[in-house]
Amino acid sequence: MYRIPLSKPFMTEDIMDRVRAVLKSGFLTEGPVTREFEQAVAEKVGATHCVAATSCTTGLEMALRALGIGLGDEVIVPDYTYPATAMVVNIIGAECVVVDVDPRTMLIDYDALKAEISPKTRAVIPVSLFGNPLDWDRLREIRERTDIFIVEDAACALGSSHRGAMTGSLADISVFSHHPRKFITTGEGGTVTTNNAEWAEWMVSYKHFGLRRADSRLSCEFYRIGTNYKLSDVLAGIGVAQIRHMEGLLTERRGLAAFYRAFFADDERIGLPEITQNGEHSWQTCCVFVKERDRVMEAMRSRGIEVQIGTYALHMHPAFANNPACRFASAMEGSRYAFEHSLALPLYPGMTEAEQTEVGETLKEVLP
Ligand SMILES: Cc1ncc(COP(=O)(O)O)c(C=O)c1O
Repeated sequence: MYRIPLSKPFMTEDIMDRVRAVLKSGFLTEGPVTREFEQAVAEKVGATHCVAATSCTTGLEMALRALGIGLGDEVIVPDYTYPATAMVVNIIGAECVVVDVDPRTMLIDYDALKAEISPKTRAVIPVSLFGNPLDWDRLREIRERTDIFIVEDAACALGSSHRGAMTGSLADISVFSHHPRKFITTGEGGTVTTNNAEWAEWMVSYKHFGLRRADSRLSCEFYRIGTNYKLSDVLAGIGVAQIRHMEGLLTERRGLAAFYRAFFADDERIGLPEITQNGEHSWQTCCVFVKERDRVMEAMRSRGIEVQIGTYALHMHPAFANNPACRFASAMEGSRYAFEHSLALPLYPGMTEAEQTEVGETLKEVLP
């Protein structure tokens, strides 16, 4: 246990009461509470449809399948991301084309993405990493000039926005994670948002074993091969109660991130990742760039402060590097820089100024 942990779930009495109410209802599988959670997410992000899933990973998989992507198709992903972004491409039988990221923002390099679009490309999965929104000026231009779909891996980006439009309303399909490290959690879970009714309906059917309710409403028809990615009402109960606090939690996160960034602003040993122009970050994760990251991480942990790497560089992992269904477009220098230097700092609801100051001062002490 760390004195100052990396994250803490927001867990108030009203949240526990809501879960208790679900347990008492006796209805535990996906049902009215999950519907309520979907509706709340759709409203918060300004999307017409929201489909809950068991995770962001299964949500991304459903999204690609709903678009009819599969064998023989190519999907472009950034190298610096959680591996699930790329794994889903191979899971559905398509090939992964991996491009570099901009080391300043750690987001996909839009020029590298453009350069890799071929007749086989069906989609790109840009990642609004750590809650930094994507640059929709760049992506919209690509979307308009090609016919590739944009499936946003918005695992960390609930609450972020670009030019005032919320993440979740901008891509063809966006997928959020509600894993416990995410500030709106359901334990495990994901939500998929889209403005396309046909894709939403397809995903709802797919995650319910390919069912379609028959007209009589007494029986169902298995309409396609599907699976079970339903999100239980027990888990959705946490999300429904938590999401009511979303704006307050976001304001707090933004204040905490601003404190860190001001604290480090004049220390040239500490790099601050850039925020997308015209974007508002949700600060799901607050990273800085430091030299000797692994040694710094160990030194901070030994002093009771839980810090973590940012995320992973796909080209460094055998699942992708030794994978004939995975092609790397370049040497991934931007991603390598991000991987070797990024350090995620503790940030959680209720974090005090004294705790943040201790994190900041300790980091300055242990830095080379
Ligand atoms: C960018 C990104 N994509 C996908 C995932 C996977 O999310 P989940 O655990 O909900 O499947 C994560 C997890 O943190 C992530 O950070």
